[in-house]
Amino acid sequence: MAHLWSGRFEGDPDAALFEFGASFRFDRRLFEADVRGSRAWAAALARAGVLDQEDAGAIDRGLREILDGAAADPAFTDPARHGDEDVHAFVERELVARVGDAGRRLHTGRSRNEQVALDLRLYLKGRIPVARRAVAALVGRLADLAGLAGDVLMPSYTHMRRAQPVLVAHFLLSHASALRRDHGRLDALEVEIDELPLGSGAIAGTSYAIDVRALAADLGFTRVARNSIDASGDRDFVSSFLHAAALGMVHLSRIAEDFILFTSEEFAFFELADSAATGSSLMPQKKNPDPLELVRGKTGRVIGHLTGWLAAMKGLPAGYSKDLQEDKEALFDAEDTWVACLAATTSVVAGLRLNAPATARAASGLLLATDVADYLVARGVPFREAHEIVGAIVRRLLKEHRSFDSLSVQEWREHSPLFGDDVRSAISAAASVERKQTPQSTNPRAVAAALDEMRDWLART
Ligand code: ARG
Repeated sequence: MAHLWSGRFEGDPDAALFEFGASFRFDRRLFEADVRGSRAWAAALARAGVLDQEDAGAIDRGLREILDGAAADPAFTDPARHGDEDVHAFVERELVARVGDAGRRLHTGRSRNEQVALDLRLYLKGRIPVARRAVAALVGRLADLAGLAGDVLMPSYTHMRRAQPVLVAHFLLSHASALRRDHGRLDALEVEIDELPLGSGAIAGTSYAIDVRALAADLGFTRVARNSIDASGDRDFVSSFLHAAALGMVHLSRIAEDFILFTSEEFAFFELADSAATGSSLMPQKKNPDPLELVRGKTGRVIGHLTGWLAAMKGLPAGYSKDLQEDKEALFDAEDTWVACLAATTSVVAGLRLNAPATARAASGLLLATDVADYLVARGVPFREAHEIVGAIVRRLLKEHRSFDSLSVQEWREHSPLFGDDVRSAISAAASVERKQTPQSTNPRAVAAALDEMRDWLART
């Protein structure tokens, strides 16, 4: 078969090397974007007087036929049925097959270098909203669970050691807060990709009087590339997407890790739905959190796409090099993996049941030590001194296998005369969260306001 560049060569390309360089296998995903870009390019050529109305009309008709063909039959773009190098060659060949010479005029003044840069931007424009909706859906399930948890308490952990009591809702909303940043990163990416690369040619620009502003508007871009050399070799937006996906996966992985731990026999803070767990082929008692483990495991692969892509770009000279073709498999796999993991995590979270007695029980005991120190501070003791006094009480309680609530007022006073009759009621998990004062704290009213704000945000997005 003839290639896009056959004229220059006497012989055919080595079949295996051609296959090695071909990208149609995976860039068929860009099919719709490619046709859309080509229709707009043909219109721009016509406006510039490069194509007459007849040819422009024939090209548009041919491209629409190709789109309809693919819509009617998904196998239309099946790479196994065509020997094309890439999606751009595929569309052009199909066009020429339909409209002949008019189709041979479409590529005037245009290069595949800018075409693929355009297609990727158009493709992402369509896919970003899908990823954003998947992020919001998980935020929604976390907010639902937070609503159900009400004022139920649990321990918070630092260094994976019990730290201070918090509301279960506060813990759940902490993960939702990280996901909101992922959502925002996708907004920022939308701004980054909003730039038309066409008009850059292969590297130096185009010799035809293309109205790039009008072309940009036609394709829904508000900006035009500033420099044709940069435009043909710029895949920063691919690394921005991969970073958004990798960090989004890191957040999912941390959510997965928390629920793997908290649904274990050791914690039993939450129970996994049967539908979100798997059994063991050998051990009849097992209820394994496989979906969460897979989410955690797949995170490594998406991080790999980001680091792999940065490494691929770092040695490239200015302009286009074929290395850039490597962007697509990384991008598509990162996107698929991220969106699939968001959906899996969302359904696991939707099925979680809170074991309130277990979390409340775990939220009492020595994790109230900071509150005891604050009690003394309120009575004039410098914090460092209060810390010392409470440290000694903790040492004693550990030795005697007891906790604060077992101390009589008499015993409290052995450690400081400032402990009054109210100490027994002042030192509880409920009083601890109640005492928190800042809007980002676990104070029940602050958490209720945070949950309201989260729901408002969900309603807005
Ligand atoms: N398939 C190529 C890619 O994905 C399209 C651009 C080809 N350009 C070229 N000069 N070979 O990067």
